[in-house]
Amino acid sequence: MALTLDDGRPALLVMQPDGPRAFLDRCPHQGSRMLTEDETGDPYMDATGGLILCHRHQACFEPHHGTCISGPCVGQRLTALDVERVHNDASPVLLLLWEAPGSGGELREK
Ligand code: FES
Repeated sequence: MALTLDDGRPALLVMQPDGPRAFLDRCPHQGSRMLTEDETGDPYMDATGGLILCHRHQACFEPHHGTCISGPCVGQRLTALDVERVHNDASPVLLLLWEAPGSGGELREK
């Protein structure tokens, strides 16, 4: 799922069995955006739906930590965003995302 942070940077959200993961939409290979403009399916996922795909040069990233497992930047990682899932009466779930340098992309509940 494509998102835009408050500061205008593009990001992506990937739902995993143990909760959401979020990353900046910036490929470690050339620093460009990764999404496809193909309007069918998820703009960030591969055909299996199990891996994040940079559509520019086909780098594949595992969605839990954002590590590249195939393609031109193997071993490099996407920039993980911390996610805080907030529950309240007005909105059952509100996701807050932010970049925390050095973080592996923490998930918190509030
Ligand atoms: S810019 Fe992502 S694989 Fe080249």
